Amino acid sequence: MIKSFGNKIKVAVFISGRGTNLKNLFYFSKKKNSKIQICIVISNKKYAKGLSFAKKNNINFEIYTFKDQLKDELKVLQILKRKNIKIICLAGFMKILSREFIKRFKGKIINIHPSLLPKYKGLNTHDRVIKNKEKYSGCTVHYVTSKLDSGKIILQKKVKIFKNDSAKSLQKRVLEQEHKIYPKALKMIIN
Ligand code: GAR
Repeated sequence: MIKSFGNKIKVAVFISGRGTNLKNLFYFSKKKNSKIQICIVISNKKYAKGLSFAKKNNINFEIYTFKDQLKDELKVLQILKRKNIKIICLAGFMKILSREFIKRFKGKIINIHPSLLPKYKGLNTHDRVIKNKEKYSGCTVHYVTSKLDSGKIILQKKVKIFKNDSAKSLQKRVLEQEHKIYPKALKMIIN
C-alpha cells in the first residue's frame, strides 16, 4: 500500500512506443478526486508516439536510450528522486530494468502485460496465444521484480478469444481492458 497522506502521489510513467496506456493514465490522473499526478514520462525511444502526447499535454519528459543502462538508470534515479516520485508505472516500456534499479523502488514499480500471467511472459504474446489456440487471453497489472513479468499480480482481466481472431483483433480487445484495469490497479495500491 502506498500512502498519499492527503497529497497527490507523484507518478512517473515509462514508455517505449505508442503510449495509449500513458494517455489513459493521464486522463485518469485528471479526474476529480484522483490521488495521483503524472510528473514525468521517461522514454527509451526518441520517436515514441507517446512523447507527442506528453508534449501536447505539458507533461515533463526525458529520453534515455538505456544503451548504457547503468549510466542512464542512475540519471533517471536522480530525476525521480528530485521530483519526489513515489510510483513508477511501466506502460509498454520494453527495457528490462536492472535488479539495482528495482531495489531502489522496491514495491513501487508496476507494469501492465498483455496476457494472463504467468502465462505468455515476454514478447509477441498475442501471436503466441493465437497460435496455441487458447480460448482466453487477457491482461495483467503486476509488481515488477527482477524476474521478467513475474512479480505479484495486482489485477487481471480475462478476454475471450473468438474463432476468427487475429493477433491484431485480439490485441485491440485486450488493450481496451488494459485501459480499464491499469487505473483500477493503481487505485488498489494507493491509500
Ligand atoms: C501494451 O499492450 C502493454 O500491455 C504492452 O505494450 C503495449 C503498450 O501499448 N506491454 C508489454 O508487452 C510489456 N511486457 P501502449 O504504448 O499503447 O500503452
